[in-house]
This record gives sequence, C-alpha cells and structure tokens, in this order.
Amino acid sequence: MRVIGIETSCDESGVAIYDAREGLLAQRIYSQCSMHAEYAGVVPELASRDHVRRLLPLIAEVMRDARTEWAQVDGVAYTAGPGLVGALLVGAALGRSLAWSRGLPAVPVHHLEGHLLASLLESPAPACPFVALLVSGGHTLLVKVDRVGCYEIIGESLDDAVGEAFDKTATLLGLPYPGGPALEQLARSGDPSRFSFPRPMVDRPGLEFSFSGLKTFAANTVMEHRHDADQGRLRADVARAFQDAVVDTLAIKCRRALRATNLSRLVVAGGVGANRALRQRLTELARDEGGEAFFPRAEFCTDNGAMIAFVGCLRLQSGEWTRGGFDVRARWPLDSLEAIAPV
Ligand code: KG4
Ligand code: ZN
Repeated sequence: MRVIGIETSCDESGVAIYDAREGLLAQRIYSQCSMHAEYAGVVPELASRDHVRRLLPLIAEVMRDARTEWAQVDGVAYTAGPGLVGALLVGAALGRSLAWSRGLPAVPVHHLEGHLLASLLESPAPACPFVALLVSGGHTLLVKVDRVGCYEIIGESLDDAVGEAFDKTATLLGLPYPGGPALEQLARSGDPSRFSFPRPMVDRPGLEFSFSGLKTFAANTVMEHRHDADQGRLRADVARAFQDAVVDTLAIKCRRALRATNLSRLVVAGGVGANRALRQRLTELARDEGGEAFFPRAEFCTDNGAMIAFVGCLRLQSGEWTRGGFDVRARWPLDSLEAIAPV
C-alpha cells in the first residue's frame, strides 16, 4: 500500500510518499518561515495563500523522487487538524480533490498523531507501550501510548506551550522568527552559572507544566540588566538560563512520567524535540531509568509530510477513510481518536 501525505497545518508545506512495504520513498518540505519572519509570527492568511502556491509543485517533485505514478498510489492523506483552519483547508481541499479525481480514498490525519508517531519512521523504531513527550509550538503534552491510536494524556501545559515560550523569549532577545533554533544557537555561548531561572511546578506532584512564568522571568532579567555594558553577553546568558530551565523541567516531568506509568521507553516528538540540549538530556535520563529514548531525525520533529503519509497509511490499512465533506478542525482532542487495528 502506497500513500501520499500532505501537511499544511501551519507554516510548512510538506508532502511525502510512504509505502507500507518499502517505507518512506520521498519527502519534501517547504518552510514559509522567511515570509512570516518580518511579522515575528505566522500570519494565517499569508500561510494559506502560500500553501496554494507550493503544494502542486511539491507533489510533482515528490512523485518524481519516489518514481511513483498515480496508478501506484492507494490513498491520499492530509492533515485535518488541529491547526490554522485556512491553512488546513488548502491541504484538505487539494487532498480530497486529488483523491476524488483518481478514485482513491482520502484519509484525514490528526497532526499530533503524526508528530507522536514520527519516530516510528526511524530505525530502530520504538515499540508500544511508551511515554511520549510532545513539545511543539502549540502543544506540550505527556502521552501514554498503549498502542497506535490509543492515547492517554497524562500531563499538559496549563498555559504556554514550550515552543511558544522559546519563540516569545527569542523575540525578547531580538532573535529572528522562529525563535527556537536561534535561541538554541545563542545559548551555546551563554554562561550556565550566571543566572538561575525557576523550574516551574516541579515542587508539586503531578505531570502538569507551566511555561509563561519563565518567559516573564527572562523579560525581568533583561530589564534589570539593561544598563550592562555587554548586551551581547547578557542575551547569550539569558538564553542559556532559559534553555537550561526548560530542559531541566521537561526532564524532571519525563522521569516522573516513566516512573508513574512503569514504562521504560520515552519517545520525543514535535519541533522542540529538535533541540540538541534536550535530546542529550533525555537520552541520559532514559538510560538512567534503565530504558531508552527515541527521537525522530530533526527535520521530522518539526512539521513534515512524512509523518502524515505514515499515519495515513496505517489508518488506511486498518480500513479508515472518508467519502465526503470537509472535516478540518482547528481543535481536535488527541484522546478522541480510535485505536488502530493491528495490521
Ligand atoms: O512541531 P512544530 O514544527 O509546529 C507545531 O506543530 O507547532 O514546532 C514548532 C516549534 C516552534 O515554536 C519552534 O521555535 C520550536 O518548535 N523549535 C525549537 C527548535 N526547533 C524548533 N525549539 C527549541 N530548539 C530547537 N532547536
Ligand atoms: Zn506540528
């Protein structure tokens, strides 16, 4: 079974082809981030229009890269939510039209399920059950994954998502959008001993997160030191203190989640999962706990079509697809999905 996947939930147009026997055949991502950079955030209408421009050429390129003709395609998967409705509609309209015109099934995919399962594209792939830490621009979740499609949310952020906190702190430090990768780079030259930022909510039991206070702490630190002669050093030291606090907080909650669920595998997903300090820390943590941490390659941590083609293929194999109607959803609870029958 061969499925083409289309991702347009935010500011990346992603297209990929996944084959159930041969694996990932081809994938391409077009990032709009330079277009949104001047606004320091995603402008939804610009995002939708750019998806319209990019998708058809991307699909043609991916078909060519995968040496695939339409006659070899068994289904068209597209991200149906959660995300920006206008952007989602572009992928859904194109995906459904292509499917209809070729007489193929169309498969709506949950964006967060795509992220959660992206590390199953890697080798070795984690086996279920596992604990997943999903850290993206819009979500911070700890999820107990008993099997594919069966997701129990065991912790989440009460306010900002981690990626959002990275982006806002990066803007405060004058870094270009999207801030996460730029902040990570700046933090490398920061002094870890100069500032100590709080580790939010670690001194009370539970798996909830809160990141909005950290961003405020960073703003206050910058303000207090606004007369420092070396503002470049200050920015690097604040970036380092912020990142250390985030990584520490996530690690503490991941350790708790592994112990609370009695599981040994930790799977990391979402854009912030590309952060090297976080990857290193969680790798060590899982090993300390007698388990193992799994990560998608960095380009599959952020939004991509490969994870959508992959989940689309799993769901189509288990007989799931829709015939009519547009079904994109800005909000869509992850734990409302159906478990996938083993194939
Ligand atoms: O998963 P993703 O591509 O999109 C959403 O579904 O939200 O995540 C994007 C987020 C952004 O907030 C971005 O700044 C953050 O992931 N991010 C990073 C890094 N790379 C991307 N944050 C920290 N360090 C990174 N290296
Ligand atoms: Zn995403």
